[in-house]
Amino acid sequence: MFRSAAEAETIHAIAHLRVMGGIGSTSENLETAVEGEGYEFKEMYPAFLSQARDEGLKPAEFSFKNAMAVEEVHYDLFSRAMKAVKGGQDIPEIPIYVCPVCGNTVEGDVPDICPVCHIKGEKYREIK
Ligand SMILES: [Fe+2]
Ligand SMILES: [Fe+2]
Repeated sequence: MFRSAAEAETIHAIAHLRVMGGIGSTSENLETAVEGEGYEFKEMYPAFLSQARDEGLKPAEFSFKNAMAVEEVHYDLFSRAMKAVKGGQDIPEIPIYVCPVCGNTVEGDVPDICPVCHIKGEKYREIK
C-alpha cells in the first residue's frame, strides 16, 4: 500500500514539475541535478550536521553524515553524465548498486564493506 501511494505521489510530483516548467532537456536536467547535489553536500548537510552536533542529536548527526557523503557521490555521477551528454556521448551501461543503510551509490562492483556506513557490501541492492 505504501509503495503504491509513493508511486502515485511520484507521478503527481512529476506532473506538477512539468507544469512548472521544471523538466528540460537531459543536459538541462543534469545541470539542475549537479547544482542540487552540490548544494546538498557543500552547504545544506554541513549546516544540518553542525546543528545536530550543537544539539547533541547523535541519530540526526549519523543520518546527515551519511546523506552528505552520498550526495557527493551523486554529484560526481551526475557531473560525469553531464560532461558525456554535452560532448554528444552517453554514459556506459554499468550496473549500479545502492547501500540499503546509507544510500551509498556505486557503479560496477560492490565494495567488500560500505565505505560510508561500514555494512557488508553483499547487502547492496542492484538498481535496474
Ligand atoms: Fe543525491
Ligand atoms: Fe552504506
